[in-house]
Amino acid sequence: MIQLPYILALVFFLIAAWFAWRFYDLKKRLDAYAKTVRKQGGAQDPAGDLEAISAAVNALQTAFRSDQVALNAENARLATVLAQLTDGVLIADAEGRVQLANPAAGSLFGIGSPTGQTVAQVVRNHQLIEAWKRCQKTRRVEVETVELPSRKLMLQLTVIPDEHEGGSLLLAQDMTQVRKLEMVRRDFISNVSHELRTPLASLKALTETLQSGALLDLEAGPRFLERIHTEVDALTQMTQELLDLSRIESGQVQLNYESLSPRKLIHSAAERMKAQIERARLKLDVECEDSLPNIMADRNRLEQVLVNLIHNAVKFNKPGGSIRLGVETTPGGVRCAVRDTGSGIPAESLTRIFERFYRVDSSRTGSGTGLGLSISKHIIEAHGGKIWAESDEGRGSSFFFEIPANKNQ
Ligand SMILES: Nc1ncnc2c1ncn2[C@@H]1O[C@H](COP(=O)(O)OP(=O)(O)O)[C@@H](O)[C@H]1O
Ligand SMILES: [Mg+2]
Repeated sequence: MIQLPYILALVFFLIAAWFAWRFYDLKKRLDAYAKTVRKQGGAQDPAGDLEAISAAVNALQTAFRSDQVALNAENARLATVLAQLTDGVLIADAEGRVQLANPAAGSLFGIGSPTGQTVAQVVRNHQLIEAWKRCQKTRRVEVETVELPSRKLMLQLTVIPDEHEGGSLLLAQDMTQVRKLEMVRRDFISNVSHELRTPLASLKALTETLQSGALLDLEAGPRFLERIHTEVDALTQMTQELLDLSRIESGQVQLNYESLSPRKLIHSAAERMKAQIERARLKLDVECEDSLPNIMADRNRLEQVLVNLIHNAVKFNKPGGSIRLGVETTPGGVRCAVRDTGSGIPAESLTRIFERFYRVDSSRTGSGTGLGLSISKHIIEAHGGKIWAESDEGRGSSFFFEIPANKNQ
């Protein structure tokens, strides 16, 4: 494919050469005429006048040359911009034949060299071809967005009429990422509303029951109040988690790095969860390797991850089950593990559990909002580490995260 900058340079060179030749010719003829007149002699000095004209033409040529240099530079700049543009640009003539195309246009439409082909051959999509035809007919800007499933692309085409030539300018933009973000945002809002609806509906039902007489019932009254308390706790936790998630995702959370002992960290998290573990009558084991390197990490955030994982290990465990916490050195740094003897996680959900709001069994009431692991993943990744899960379904799950070791020690 002949590259766009070369075509532009060639065209420009030909025009410049033609002008230069015209000037040269004109000057030669004027000089010859001046010579003839001088030979014949005359009262005034027509030869002098002609020489003045010839000098003027000369000056004009010099000026033209400097204009030509400036224009050349401008042209090269324009060609670079077009070549670097991530949006595809096509210029088609009145018949729809592509006269000019930048490299992005070729790659967006998955076609090697669009120049010389027709718009229909290049865009190969019924709706896009129609948009171009409409623009040709109405001479108005047309915008069309289409999904190209075969190429996993969402493409927006803007067709702008070219008033002088009867042709058009076609601008192709890849909207895949934008559309994906829009969908994530919509999903997020619908998930949040859904999650809020359940506890709010319970609260409404409970207060109504209290209002209609249960308040005075010495046995049922306190029970309903206790349930209201639980629902309010769940709402508070969810609001806190949502706030955390949005802060972490928008990069507003500043990590306070310090050199930490992984052993101390895991013991501190275990201590915080001790009461819950005992209440669930589960056994807790902590195994730490002897010579663990320190890690550079944010103490509170990392403890939050461990607490999230231990909390899940309690929540999804079986009666009489156990939880094992461990830390060991790996070539990449330090690896923490939280293992339980609970229900386990189906293989197809092992990566999905880190998505926000994802729960394996969303029908289970009181099992949380599905945000904990998503927050944990963000925190670990912000530390340059990774988090993953393994599970033997029905027999238990293991969660691991690895943090790079502190290289400065
Ligand atoms: N230790 C575990 N054992 C079994 N399933 C788990 C475990 N940890 C997480 N899960 C599954 O992953 C889902 C997401 O976990 P998480 O993000 O912490 O949300 P939540 O605890 O609010 O449900 C849980 O709903 C559960 O289905
Ligand atoms: Mg959780």
